[in-house]
Amino acid sequence: MDAILEVSSISKSFPVKSGWGKAKGAVSAVKEVSFALQEQGTLGIVGESGCGKSTLARLLLRLIEPDAGEVRFRGNNILELKDSELQQIRQSMQMVFQNPYSSLNPKMTILDNVAFNLWVNGQSKQEARKRAHYYLEAVGLPSSYAGRYPHSLSGGQRQRVAIARALILEPPILIADEAVSALDKSVQAQVLNLFQDLKKEFSLSLLFISHDLNVVEYMSDEVMVMYLGTVVEKGPADRLYSSPYHPYTQALLNSAPSMEVGVTTLNKHTPIKGELPSPLNPPSGCRFRTRCNFAEERCAHQVPEPVKVGPGHEVACFLYETGHEARVVS
Ligand SMILES: Nc1ncnc2c1ncn2[C@@H]1O[C@H](COP(=O)(O)OP(=O)(O)OP(=O)(O)O)[C@@H](O)[C@H]1O
Ligand SMILES: [Mg+2]
Repeated sequence: MDAILEVSSISKSFPVKSGWGKAKGAVSAVKEVSFALQEQGTLGIVGESGCGKSTLARLLLRLIEPDAGEVRFRGNNILELKDSELQQIRQSMQMVFQNPYSSLNPKMTILDNVAFNLWVNGQSKQEARKRAHYYLEAVGLPSSYAGRYPHSLSGGQRQRVAIARALILEPPILIADEAVSALDKSVQAQVLNLFQDLKKEFSLSLLFISHDLNVVEYMSDEVMVMYLGTVVEKGPADRLYSSPYHPYTQALLNSAPSMEVGVTTLNKHTPIKGELPSPLNPPSGCRFRTRCNFAEERCAHQVPEPVKVGPGHEVACFLYETGHEARVVS
């Protein structure tokens, strides 16, 4: 299957000013990130808070401009597009955020919140509302909800509205950024299942961002693990979860609560040692080295390139260069 989205070596730093308005440095939020999202596939992106997941999503839509790199949507580099063409690409990649309440208009009915995206794009109100009814039904909201206002809905229902509003533009790509993180576990499961159903029904390709490893495992065909703005490992979800290679992926999986049927238990394994370093002053070489049990001298001087460790499975760690395999305990 072909890639619908190909990202090559994309980077973004944010300048940070001191109290007097002078430049103090730069936060390296995303650094040379590359990946592909397959047509009708789901790519999960995981990593601790502040590792650059949302910045990456915003870069893909050009809500912020990258410092370097390439983003190809069906072969076209969207970084070269003029404003008018960019508008179309933005319609093709719709986002669903963590907090739907802040993105819904409290003064508009549910129906008009969903229809709005169509009528600002030139459709008649009547036609837009007709389509909105269709998408409200598609996300499982009864038509009796159409005339209600966002404040009268539960968190899960509001998230359904936000999904309907994204879908009405018929985007081939949906980017869900922590879309279920604010919901109770039981509601979370319902919304995840809804994403799965909608993905099939509307042939969507899904970029699924979450700090919750269980959620990402449930949703994804492929997974990419980020640490301090860099990709440390990516591969097919089943491989990555059953045999993680990168010391960070291993630590992340070992420190996560595991999900068994109906119970959430804490794994016995140790949490990741040390604090996440500041992205204002990230470690030289491999950014994970200050928390890594396997770090050696050259990790401070060289940035590890991704090494292929299996079909579609890559890891950016010197341990996996030829001859090093035997040293890894996974
Ligand atoms: N506009 C900005 N100006 C300065 N720094 C920023 C800006 N946006 C993001 N950052 C910084 O970039 C880094 C990555 O942030 P980002 O929000 O992308 O992380 P994240 O992985 O989405 O985190 P979370 O899981 O908490 O949502 C953080 O250190 C953040 O403080
Ligand atoms: Mg985020």
